[in-house]
Amino acid sequence: MIRPLTSHTGAEVVGLDLTEPLDDALRDRLNRAFIEHSVLVFRDQHLSPHQLLSAVQLFGEVFPQHNTRFALPECPQIHYISNQDFFPDGKRYIPGEGYHTDHSNAAEPPKATVLHAVQLPDHGGDTQFVNMHRAYETLPPAISARIDDLRAVHVYQSRHSERKLMGLSDAARQKVPDAVVHPLVRTHPESGRKAIYLNPIRIEGLLGMEECDALALLDDLLAHATQPQYEYRHRWRQGDLVMWDNRCLLHKANGDYDMRQVRYLYRIMLKGDVPV
Ligand code: SIN
Repeated sequence: MIRPLTSHTGAEVVGLDLTEPLDDALRDRLNRAFIEHSVLVFRDQHLSPHQLLSAVQLFGEVFPQHNTRFALPECPQIHYISNQDFFPDGKRYIPGEGYHTDHSNAAEPPKATVLHAVQLPDHGGDTQFVNMHRAYETLPPAISARIDDLRAVHVYQSRHSERKLMGLSDAARQKVPDAVVHPLVRTHPESGRKAIYLNPIRIEGLLGMEECDALALLDDLLAHATQPQYEYRHRWRQGDLVMWDNRCLLHKANGDYDMRQVRYLYRIMLKGDVPV
């Protein structure tokens, strides 16, 4: 059973054990639900890394994540998200803070990201998602006409980003493009709906636009897109597996909990297409 979590984003898939084989009809139904709801939540899964790896392949092929320092040694396609890592200057690293879409600095960014909760704080640490289809569809027509043909330059770490990322190793850096250009409005390859494709962490500028104008426009779009009416906020429970669509959502983690408590999740991504 698929139970919507809001009118626009998120659905819980009830009564499924992802360690069990699924038939083609159910697999198709889940893939359709993913396109319709953009976030799927599976409760009480408790998967090992290898079980997670085989479960997510119901939805696509694994995308190689960029910062290999977070790879699990026993299953490197899976990375971990943890609040127990520190920058070289001693500051705590909270992965995923600030709205973003994953790995948009790739020529073919991942269509989906999956997180599986292993250890959680008692309170807080929610993940917020906002629906960029809804954000696009509710823009004033003059703004959508202005942005429809704009193109954005994405890099690993934008110099305009307030959030600093953990540096890449030399080997990882060689595999990551210096810069890629993607449309600011993309069309979902499966639903045909348009979405604003923003990423404050990675967008360095807009082609053909002065930096101050581009930054002002990007800020306005972000403020519009992150209004509560476009949001699904996921309150994690132990064993949750959450998969989201990076082509039409922004998401952010919240570092609002007691940092003496561990927040640890497995993360895996699925390959996507060139945004158009
Ligand atoms: C991420 O941005 O991939 C992590 C989100 C989270 O930890 O909630």
